Amino acid sequence: MLNGVRGAMRSSCGLTGLAGLGRVGLARVHAAARKVKGGDGGEGEGRVVVVTSGKGGVGKTTTSASMAYRLAELGHKTVAIDFDIGLRNLDLHLGMERRVVFDFVNVLQGEAELRQALIKDRRNDNLYVLAASQTRDKTALTLEGVEKVINQLKQQFDYVLCDSPAGIESGAHHAMYFADEAIVCTNPELSSVRDSDKMIGLLASKSKRAADGREPIDAYLLITRYEPERVADANMLSVSDISEMLGIPLLGVIPNSEAVLTSTNLGQPVVMQDPNEVDCSGAFRDFVDRFLGKDIPLRFLEPKKKGFLSKLFS
Ligand SMILES: Nc1ncnc2c1ncn2[C@@H]1O[C@H](COP(=O)(O)OP(=O)(O)OP(=O)(O)O)[C@@H](O)[C@H]1O
Ligand SMILES: [Mg+2]
Repeated sequence: MLNGVRGAMRSSCGLTGLAGLGRVGLARVHAAARKVKGGDGGEGEGRVVVVTSGKGGVGKTTTSASMAYRLAELGHKTVAIDFDIGLRNLDLHLGMERRVVFDFVNVLQGEAELRQALIKDRRNDNLYVLAASQTRDKTALTLEGVEKVINQLKQQFDYVLCDSPAGIESGAHHAMYFADEAIVCTNPELSSVRDSDKMIGLLASKSKRAADGREPIDAYLLITRYEPERVADANMLSVSDISEMLGIPLLGVIPNSEAVLTSTNLGQPVVMQDPNEVDCSGAFRDFVDRFLGKDIPLRFLEPKKKGFLSKLFS
């Protein structure tokens, strides 16, 4: 099956870095700790991080919510911006939906000051959200407007996290344009890997850093909704397959888990759950620790051992 999957990738996707792709053991894939850098524009300036993917529905907003929450919990002043104009979601993931009075578009159109639109989390003093507008049209985003807001936020926050909408069109372009770093969320399926590959190309060529001829955006891979059982049955691309195909440092693997939906419904990012009970929470914590420069081994890559009873009935 996997050989078939790879064959299909080679012939139809035109992915970069596919030459010489072979069967790579999981043992050869390591998560990389991120190179920790300071702000680009000067001492004390925050980093702009885009959570992106290309393909829709792969877990960008889930990741943005958990990443922002955990960074804040670890003492980093963090603001998360929802770039999904028209389909606002991030406020829901963080349980702030009833507190949105002014949004990102209000600020861009001069109808509210930035400080009026920033919503402070009630659980965590270091966490703020700038919500997307639900009703307005997407042309409200302009590069000049977004740049102004991001520059202001960089002065006040350690991390400015931009939750990208799906696709590679205007919204996604605005979300990634001013980034210093990118988290590329990828599901273990062909269409997701292909779209991530496109996005990696855009990050390298169509960002402000590229336009200014500065160091490129550092792009990191986060594999989301991973199912080791299906990988073991050769029904899903493995971590090593995806890493080799995309060729950017791997920062984490998040298991597929029902806990994500339950947490979202409660307005609590899954990273808030007890990591000893919920693998997804542990995986997001490891990912954020690697993002902060810690060297931590990957977990949750092997199928769970079945107990006697479940073996009997499976
Ligand atoms: N690790 C996971 N395990 C199980 N379900 C998940 C996981 N991550 C995300 N999901 C589910 O996948 C769906 C899409 O998640 P999310 O909204 O975070 O994706 P997205 O990439 O932001 O989507 P969009 O492109 O529409 O903005 C949601 O129903 C979410 O609950
Ligand atoms: Mg989203």
